[in-house]
Amino acid sequence: KEHIAEIEKFTSDSKEAVESLRIKYLGKKGLLNDFFTEFKNVPNDQKKEFGQTINQLKTIATEKINKLKEAIEDKVDDKGGYGDLTRPGEPVELGSRHPISIVKNQIIDIFSRIGFNVSEGPEIEDDWHNFTALNLPEYHPARDMQDTFFIQTNPDILLRTHTSSVQVRYMEDNKPPIRTISPGRVYRNEAISARSHCFFHQIEGLYIDKNVSFADLKQTLQFFTTELFGKSKIRLRPSYFPFTEPSAELDVYWGLETEADYRITKGTGWLEIGGCGMVDPNVLTNCGIDPNEYSGFAFGVGIDRIAMLLHQITDIRLLSENDVRFLEQFKSAL
Ligand code: PHE
Repeated sequence: KEHIAEIEKFTSDSKEAVESLRIKYLGKKGLLNDFFTEFKNVPNDQKKEFGQTINQLKTIATEKINKLKEAIEDKVDDKGGYGDLTRPGEPVELGSRHPISIVKNQIIDIFSRIGFNVSEGPEIEDDWHNFTALNLPEYHPARDMQDTFFIQTNPDILLRTHTSSVQVRYMEDNKPPIRTISPGRVYRNEAISARSHCFFHQIEGLYIDKNVSFADLKQTLQFFTTELFGKSKIRLRPSYFPFTEPSAELDVYWGLETEADYRITKGTGWLEIGGCGMVDPNVLTNCGIDPNEYSGFAFGVGIDRIAMLLHQITDIRLLSENDVRFLEQFKSAL
């Protein structure tokens, strides 16, 4: 026991002193080896305590000596020395990109090839940019389509429910022709399950110029899905959004080859990946663009949904739980 006390008290910044402490305790002819040899002569009823004590002594001595050695080496480094040049390097763990980022970058890349730039906006929005400018005046029932997290009321400040808010900001700040996509996180007050979350990611697309038609919208979306999924069929299903007229839901045909395909497409093969339409003239006017001169289309797709499809992810919650076992699987993807 007094040896333990001696070691605990011991301190030195000389290499030699530490080395002789090591020899004294841990060396071949050191005290510890003596104790271990002596162990068999210890009477049985004391064996347990004796054993525990020498084991404790060994750990304490080893730790202490390593610590002192490290401290001495660090000091050498501080003085401009190089430390131990033969020490093996620290391995650097390679990280991986998050599947949301991978898919987002893929989509940005596809649209940048046909002249779209990237724009971003705040996640904390005001009522004007998230609702009113998008033809959703106060008390409009369509506001119920997107259950909102309010940060403050009167004036209303909220977590944006869609990236269409960036569309408004971009039109306010830029003159046509406009070709922009806006990726980002959006929030809705929804129950969390394997299929939906209270936050997720969208990419909004906006194209405003003279004589933009619905055919341009359809061709652009067909180009997009073909680039992303390979040869693919799309379908535009009539729908309603206050900020587009006419409006449509964008479906892609997802084959029906496996059991999982049946499940995710509910057996029809068609899967909804976003909404789209021709920008409503009221929205253009709200944003300072003359609807008699310009027209345009907009669309919004869900990044999480697409990432889940492309990487066979069955639970949306995996995308935000930061479980390294999940994230590590994307090391080979860029
Ligand atoms: N903002 C819509 C949504 O989140 C999607 C959309 C974007 C629809 C652009 C039409 C045009 O549901």
